[in-house]
Amino acid sequence: MRPMLLTRTALLLAAFFFATGFQAPTPMDKADVGAAVATQTATLQAAEIEAALNAAYTKYKTLQKGANADYIPALAKVDASIYGIALVTPDGKVYTAGDIKSEVSIQSISKVFTMALVMEEQGPDALLNNMGVDATGQVFNSIVAIEQYKGAEMNPLVNPGAIAATSMVSGTSREQIWNKILTTYNDFAGRKLSVNEEVFKSEADTNQRNQAIGKLMYAYGRIKDNPDQATDIYTEQCSVNVNARDLAIMAATLANGGINPVTGKQVMRSEYVPEVLAVMATAGLYDDSGKWLYATGLPAKSGVGGGIIAVSPGRFGIAVISPPLDAAGNSVRAQKAIADISNALGGNPYAVTPAK
Ligand code: DON
Repeated sequence: MRPMLLTRTALLLAAFFFATGFQAPTPMDKADVGAAVATQTATLQAAEIEAALNAAYTKYKTLQKGANADYIPALAKVDASIYGIALVTPDGKVYTAGDIKSEVSIQSISKVFTMALVMEEQGPDALLNNMGVDATGQVFNSIVAIEQYKGAEMNPLVNPGAIAATSMVSGTSREQIWNKILTTYNDFAGRKLSVNEEVFKSEADTNQRNQAIGKLMYAYGRIKDNPDQATDIYTEQCSVNVNARDLAIMAATLANGGINPVTGKQVMRSEYVPEVLAVMATAGLYDDSGKWLYATGLPAKSGVGGGIIAVSPGRFGIAVISPPLDAAGNSVRAQKAIADISNALGGNPYAVTPAK
């Protein structure tokens, strides 16, 4: 901003505060944030939540639409009948329906948490200035989207931006970078996660397109060094196994300002959570992100393993796993179940009761 403009803005703000008696809010400490969150969730009763989960579980249990991803051969073999729902509130209560034991590979949902790690290390501007934070309107592994703006004007939740984000995690060896990524996921989930080696190998053997994407991002300077290593680590992060409960706790950590509501650990800075949610809102379900936001208002992220997470800030984190996907690569049952549950619980952050 130019100095003249700054002075003018400052004067206008001072006049506004004087005229309205508006007081700038004092920064909240952690206890205040917890109290505010508790007040918002107090209206959500356990019985309402359980009823919403059970209704959605039953309604979509027999739905037979979509198909497992098969461009990663190991994913085609995953049991298509796995169907589990979990919702976690900021006070750490876990609600479930169906199969919350079976694990699937996290796939693209991992991108959210690597994005969070890069922010922790370098701040939000590092991502903004590298791959950007705009929706591409293209499929998640689009090369056209890279070409359009030379690897910029996209975001960390599509493959090119995600591989570049993985390349931004600092470390002197592959092992150190990988441990940092896995530790971050563990902290978000509140337990030690492990890699599905079969899925990792299957994708590593068939991911020539992602290797090309990594090289192209390197050619445009969005990856500074060693694009093959970045693609390899990205492939491993996508292969981390999770169940619906893990994913819901990860989502609830974002709903709770970066503090894992089950373990109480601050996993990321509270002030960066809105930026993560913003990109989830605009790009979390790829080229169907607009339709999803229109229906639910919820920042969300899908993965081709069949999981979707969604966040109602201050209210809940929710996850559903069901492997059959639609044409955009998003789980059919998960989209429907989350939309129903959130709408039943008033989860849409844009829906407010007007002041009288
Ligand atoms: O890079 C890939 O193609 C996969 N490892 C992840 C893609 C994905 O999950 C897209 N999700 N809807």
